[in-house]
Amino acid sequence: MILNRNDICWCGSGKKYKKCHLEFDEKLNRLKNQGHEVPTRDMIKNEKQIQGIRESAKINDGVLDLVQEKIRVGMSTEEIDKLVYDYTVSHGAIPADLNYGGYPKSVCVSINDVVCHGIPSEDTILEDGDIVNVDVSTIYNGYFSDASRMFMIGNVSEEHAKLVRVAKECLDKGFEAVKPWGFLGDIGAAIQEHAEANGFSVVRAFGGHGIGIKFHEDPFVAHVGKRGEGMVLVPGMVFTIEPMINEGDYEVFIDEDDDWTVYTEDGGYSAQWEYTVLVTETGAEILSR
Ligand code: MF3
Ligand code: CO
Repeated sequence: MILNRNDICWCGSGKKYKKCHLEFDEKLNRLKNQGHEVPTRDMIKNEKQIQGIRESAKINDGVLDLVQEKIRVGMSTEEIDKLVYDYTVSHGAIPADLNYGGYPKSVCVSINDVVCHGIPSEDTILEDGDIVNVDVSTIYNGYFSDASRMFMIGNVSEEHAKLVRVAKECLDKGFEAVKPWGFLGDIGAAIQEHAEANGFSVVRAFGGHGIGIKFHEDPFVAHVGKRGEGMVLVPGMVFTIEPMINEGDYEVFIDEDDDWTVYTEDGGYSAQWEYTVLVTETGAEILSR
């Protein structure tokens, strides 16, 4: 469909095309013709959608703040699941994990050598020295948000504390690399460099993802890569950055019994932090953290 200058823009803003995404489309087309991968229109959120995601993200942050306040040695991961479910539902929202692809709980809690998708259980008790990722995702008014944090339980070894710290630095360096008219590869490169410079590895089998109208949208956000490569980043894109950093090798496997829990192949510990990020006209903004 060819839009004329005075037609209403495709983005849903209600503005005329010439006052909205005309120049944007011209720039994107030039990049495409130069051989770059460019986002499709469904990857570009309008103001109303961004507002919806912001409201979802606010609840998502509230859940993580509550978990941060309550998490302690001796607690079962089932108790964390209940905190997440109750807070989310009492704020008029839905835990996005619950029943997602058959997932049985409201949150993922991944301890030590569990890389991601740890299923809460009454039998899993947080112990002194554990490093724990709590990954929370929320649906509010149909809009999705997603973030995760690490928690150190009691006295954590220096090496594992370093893993947790470096994983956070990797996420922040990945976020700092997000620029309008930059590239997805800029993010992966920043993360991979920092992880490997610290003697750690970056999980390849899972990545970040577009988010907003659905839980997992395109693009796939790799946490390794090369600067200047991969999809062009443009204002209005919303996606997660969620590097999983391993102390040993990056290989992982999925538990054959539950079909969800992801472990490091070599039994080394793994740490992960996640933001939901918005690309803006001037840079980027963290929507959920
Ligand atoms: N929250 C995870 C992510 O960061 C996805 C969890 S899906 C679930 O993308 F089904 F395991 F909950
Ligand atoms: Co995610």
